[in-house]
Amino acid sequence: MEQLMQENRIFNPPSDFVKNAAVPGMDAYNALCAEAAKDYEGFWARLARENLYWKKPFTKVLDETNPPFYKWFEDGLTNASYNCLDRNLENGNAQKTAIIFEADDGKVTNVTYSDLHARVCQFANALRKMGIKSGDRVIIYMSMSIEGVVAMQACARIGATHSVVFGGFSAKSLQERIVDVGAIAVITADEQMRGGKALPLKVIVDEALALGDCEKVKNVIVYKRTGGNIAMTAGRDSWMHEVVAGEAKTCEPEWVSAEHPLFVLYTSGSTGKPKGVQHSTGGYLLWAILTMKWTFDIKPSDVFWCTADIGWVTGHSYITYGPLAVGCTEIVFEGVPTYPNAGRFWDTIQKHKATIFYTAPTAIRSLIKAASVDESVHPKKYDLSSLRLLGSVGEPINPEAWMWYYENIGSSRCPIADTFWQTETGGHMISPLPGATPMVPGSCTLPLPGIMAAIVDEAGHDVPNGSGGILVVKRPWPSMIRTIWGDNDRFVKAYFPEELGGTLYLAGDGAIRNKDTGYFTITGRIDDVLNVSGHRMGTMEIESCLVANPLVAEAAVVGRPDDMTGEAICAFVVLKGGRPTGDDAKKLAMELRNWVGKEIGPIAKPKDVRFGDNLPKTRSGKIMRRLLRVIAKGEEVTQDTSTLENPAILEQLKQAL
Ligand code: WT7
Repeated sequence: MEQLMQENRIFNPPSDFVKNAAVPGMDAYNALCAEAAKDYEGFWARLARENLYWKKPFTKVLDETNPPFYKWFEDGLTNASYNCLDRNLENGNAQKTAIIFEADDGKVTNVTYSDLHARVCQFANALRKMGIKSGDRVIIYMSMSIEGVVAMQACARIGATHSVVFGGFSAKSLQERIVDVGAIAVITADEQMRGGKALPLKVIVDEALALGDCEKVKNVIVYKRTGGNIAMTAGRDSWMHEVVAGEAKTCEPEWVSAEHPLFVLYTSGSTGKPKGVQHSTGGYLLWAILTMKWTFDIKPSDVFWCTADIGWVTGHSYITYGPLAVGCTEIVFEGVPTYPNAGRFWDTIQKHKATIFYTAPTAIRSLIKAASVDESVHPKKYDLSSLRLLGSVGEPINPEAWMWYYENIGSSRCPIADTFWQTETGGHMISPLPGATPMVPGSCTLPLPGIMAAIVDEAGHDVPNGSGGILVVKRPWPSMIRTIWGDNDRFVKAYFPEELGGTLYLAGDGAIRNKDTGYFTITGRIDDVLNVSGHRMGTMEIESCLVANPLVAEAAVVGRPDDMTGEAICAFVVLKGGRPTGDDAKKLAMELRNWVGKEIGPIAKPKDVRFGDNLPKTRSGKIMRRLLRVIAKGEEVTQDTSTLENPAILEQLKQAL
């Protein structure tokens, strides 16, 4: 962190980039910020009128009568799918390629806006025929595909609220989400292709539904991706290609209030079960569009590539909604960065002449490593001259990775947008604007216009630049989370805590602003949430999963820094049958890892499992996690351990690996 704060390299936006940019220079940025400061509601109202199609215009901008349940443009009627598709048919983009689908095996399928519109309409009609209507919830458990985007857009078209579950989650995680959101239908695929392998999807849906409490699910619709062998339950399951056959290629959208829930997306919190983050239609889509314009400086000629999965919010805002709403051509990639080799990203950029590339620091770090051991996958072996802008998302990008990205992928001529945001924020919050903001490696720089980000102390008071604190947002903004699905209390407690005065949105991250520039640097989560390869994991969630194993008496999970994945999951475990050693310990560690993989999903598997006779506890029985963090890092415990009931345990846990 010290090192980050002393980072003083500055990279100015290239002058020819500035000339044509949506926000050309810091004066233009400051003017937008000033407009928002002067007349906050007027600023957002102008942008909402200019950027969205309204079937019925809104008359009220922001409703603050019941904080923190803010409402934006509530009496306006709109539809997300109409904004993303029909508008493009009307403004001359009908024959433009909307999606370039790059399959796992390299096969390419292009879809025009006109095709995509027709496919979405047909599927929307089919969903309506099944009785799915506005306000119903639909789970989407699919991998990266045109059909995945079609499924989301079709739900939006008929006003059904979708909840996409990442295809790497287990049957149990899927079932929990189906139950929590009260889904009446599940859209899935027979299998998914990743890295040359076919992986199950439909089988997992069957397993999830068999776990119980899913009686509300009346339909399971299956996209045939591989033709693999799966069972179809009569009366419940149908093939996507069969239900759309014969359906009309037009479909009147359901005109919904701007506040209508477009989607619920589950994410990990510091306590309890994953939270269903509920997003709106109007405010959410407005910000997806504006950030495409401001952060990504999107132009009609761009070929935009966001490498995220539709199972995460990045895939929602910057694959399914933002890029289509601004009418650009985007790449949708099914595969993984390392198949058939670690040059896949660079090869794909070259092949499709991508102009904007948006990925995660974890991917960059692993590709740096791959390129250092295998020259043939080094980016210099590829023609990346089509690129004009790079983006980073999901976790802090370390200055070394930033520099490598800047020099090797962007040839020192492409700005990098280090975008800080969250599932809850709907879109970018803090990021350099590529034609305006001078960049500093490792800093997400300044809030986007209209985003009132600040750093406060534990009582909610502003701290001066140069002193670290808690990252908050002082005013509601259009794309913010509306509530946690079915749990308003938890929403208020988690994001608008009493201790901070009850009006500040708490991001859950620590941050510090540079004394001179005011630039923000994110210092990491301040709660029990880990960030592993850009994926958010709650330590409590993994702990509950471990203790649910019949062998386990007690478990504590902490994060430790990891060069590749940012953070790694480290589990300290006490077994009912005593502490295993040697090969037994290895075998049991593997068993527990697989257990977590099976219960939650492979992304939650602990990297380290350490067994002890006990855990370090205070005399009142509280587990001292801060000591476990030190041990997990492999460092000496220098803190005061006098309050520990069992100091000898530290030595044992240090040895155990
Ligand atoms: C958490 C949100 C943003 C969409 C994907 C992840 C961390 C995200 C950055 C960044 C530093 C970042 C934060 C945040 N994070 N982007 N550019 N620099 N940290 O969404 O799963 O909701 O996770 O990711 O800790 O709170 P998410």
